[in-house]
Amino acid sequence: MPTQNIVLIGFMGTGKTSVGQVLSARLGMPLVDMDEMIVARQGKPISRIFAEDGEAHFRQLERALVGELAQRSGLIISTGGGIVLNPTNVTDFEATSLVVCLTAQPETILQRVAQETHRPLLAVDDKLGRIREILSTRQPLYNRVRVQLPTDALTVGEIADRIAAIFSEAT
Ligand code: S3P
Repeated sequence: MPTQNIVLIGFMGTGKTSVGQVLSARLGMPLVDMDEMIVARQGKPISRIFAEDGEAHFRQLERALVGELAQRSGLIISTGGGIVLNPTNVTDFEATSLVVCLTAQPETILQRVAQETHRPLLAVDDKLGRIREILSTRQPLYNRVRVQLPTDALTVGEIADRIAAIFSEAT
């Protein structure tokens, strides 16, 4: 099975969207941002999907979209941070695509998300505590992704360079 897509996985604030944009421009592969696609299809922001329909419903929408995107090829796919909560999502993507898990220390994540307000799971005063708490439960799930890329000391361009190199070796 050829390596069809590049799929970016990782906790909120690890750089999936920014890296996806750079990779898309460099490799000439369209970027699909799963959160943006869900928001466009539902006609409301993620915070309203969580508040009105519940997180479980959002996870079902994510799961269905993984099934759809895993059939396609030639895409850079930026996932939502909770995609790993259903390990089948990772297995489905890894069957056909290069899947990279971007990682970062909680302090780095805090710096990157501090000014942003669109993430319902981080809408609390103690953001660092919340990041640590969610990361500790999800860490074993992120660890299941075969290719891991620590991003703390890298620029978005450097992260994109490394992923492009791995992709060119895999194809
Ligand atoms: C989530 C991460 C968000 C978004 C939703 C839930 C999570 O995506 O899917 O708010 O559970 O980690 P980003 O990782 O792009 O912020």
